Amino acid sequence: MTMRVAVAVSGRGSNLEALLRALGADAPAHVVVVLSNRGDAPALDRAREHGVTAEVLSDPANGAEWLDRLARHRVDLVVLAGYLKLVPAAVIAHYRDRILNVHPALLPAFGGRGMYGHRVHEAVLASRARESGATVHLVDEVYDRGRILAQARVPVLPGDSAETLAARVLGVEHRLLPAVVLAAAAAGRPVPLPETVESSS
Ligand code: GRF
Repeated sequence: MTMRVAVAVSGRGSNLEALLRALGADAPAHVVVVLSNRGDAPALDRAREHGVTAEVLSDPANGAEWLDRLARHRVDLVVLAGYLKLVPAAVIAHYRDRILNVHPALLPAFGGRGMYGHRVHEAVLASRARESGATVHLVDEVYDRGRILAQARVPVLPGDSAETLAARVLGVEHRLLPAVVLAAAAAGRPVPLPETVESSS
């Protein structure tokens, strides 16, 4: 039995691309639908290029619409990959412990409402932290608060800008998120992974 995965996106979709590449024909998990709150998200084109159904939510705050779409695709696991809206509480209740999010910092630091995109990396640089990284966690009713399943660290280097740090973190996101999904498929449910440390780049 393969694990049927829905990926929710709002923008570029590079994490979606990493998942689509990692979850090929022989993988124990497959992306069966990509959902977006935005019809113009470039991520939707990435889905279609891989032959995956891409759907735009007509009302992202409507839990019934989400649940209907997820049921129609018989989804086992929901992955938020650069999805910037709050997931309705009814969806979180129905898919409790089966919704993952990837965040571009080492939670619980540098998370919460409004902490997305370059703001995260600017806050890390302003704090003079010597490392940052990526976190994959379970999603509950509060932004970035759910149980942490996996983290990968990267150094903050002298001269880093938000852009250079974001690119370094994104590189580890692209490995961490597929690893967590593959481990979930193997275990039949999301499970924690050992922490990894990336030396650079
Ligand atoms: C990633 O940095 C992710 O951690 C954050 O939003 C960004 C999405 O990038 N939640 P992409 O759309 O996957 O390229």
